[in-house]
Amino acid sequence: DKSGYKHFMAKEIAEQPTVLQGALAHYINADATGVALPAPGLDFTKIERMTLVACGTAFYACMVAKYWFEQIARIPVEVDVASEFRYREPPVTPGTVALFVSQSGETADTLAALRYMQGKASKIVSVVNVPESSIARESDLALPILAGTEIGVASTKAFTCQLTTLAILALNAAHARGQMDDATLAKHLADLRSLPGILNLALGIEDKVSSIAAELSEARDILFLGRGAMYPLAHEGALKLKEISYIHAEAYASGELKHGPIALVDPHVPVIVMAPRDALFDKTVSNMQEVMARGGKVLLITDQKGATEASEGVWNTIIMPEIDPLLAPILYAVPAQLLAYHTAVAKGTDVDQPRNLAKSVTVE
Ligand code: M6R
Repeated sequence: DKSGYKHFMAKEIAEQPTVLQGALAHYINADATGVALPAPGLDFTKIERMTLVACGTAFYACMVAKYWFEQIARIPVEVDVASEFRYREPPVTPGTVALFVSQSGETADTLAALRYMQGKASKIVSVVNVPESSIARESDLALPILAGTEIGVASTKAFTCQLTTLAILALNAAHARGQMDDATLAKHLADLRSLPGILNLALGIEDKVSSIAAELSEARDILFLGRGAMYPLAHEGALKLKEISYIHAEAYASGELKHGPIALVDPHVPVIVMAPRDALFDKTVSNMQEVMARGGKVLLITDQKGATEASEGVWNTIIMPEIDPLLAPILYAVPAQLLAYHTAVAKGTDVDQPRNLAKSVTVE
């Protein structure tokens, strides 16, 4: 039942503050000082490296998690798409934890990658939405994301719940490895608990997004740019747009622009720049200016500070609430989803059942 929404995707986007709250309550103890993982837990002090494997949107969640595990927990992380990982048959060094992310828990390539790691990795962990799925059952530790049933083929609330679960895991790892003191952990956990409220606020951009989307729906190609943990978000924005609006969209790390894709820039190719006012902001802005100098039409997604500093000359700006930079990838999923959704609605495509796609890809 769509509860009054026009599409399941719209309903699932709107549900995010509520389902996130449930996931946070599940993993963070009531006074927000610590993290509770289901038994048998995970001893992060003994981990040498992590291998994160998934497909599609779940893979982009892994890409974000790589930034988190490396930056705050100082664990070397490798990420790969399951279809490549399984046939590459990579050597596995001792002390490797393998982590698989899957909404359905039944994706054929992800399951095959998991089976490849059985007996090689020191632990198999999965981050899943369906607790009774094959991937959950075949893991040593299955972490539920508690997003509730997701019906729209384009994954939305599962992505933000995957990210939230992975952020909690990375914070837990950082603390266990002595990379983060009690007070810093408590601060990040408190920030996490304010996320549902911030996401609610962010959903208020919807009217603005739908007017921007009316113009985006005319485009044939769209570029997404991001740096750091916003780079995977650029990928997620491009994937979502492709899936449901059928507009060709590509994501690039901002710094890669001048190594090729800038040749595509002209006034007919909108460039969407995802850039909260963080430590990398100035770098991204200078890439954005290179785009504008070549006649590119830029949509900047940033916060109030970023907009004040850098919106001169841009075609349009979407202003997001301020947030702990660590958690920005979770928040910036909202504009990525809403842009795709409203562009698809403007084009009149079948949002919940896009052509050629299945919700669960159980064959390779
Ligand atoms: O069920 P899974 O999370 O394993 O599915 C992985 C991908 O098939 C999935 O994320 C797909 O890319 C979505 N349609 C993205 O919106």
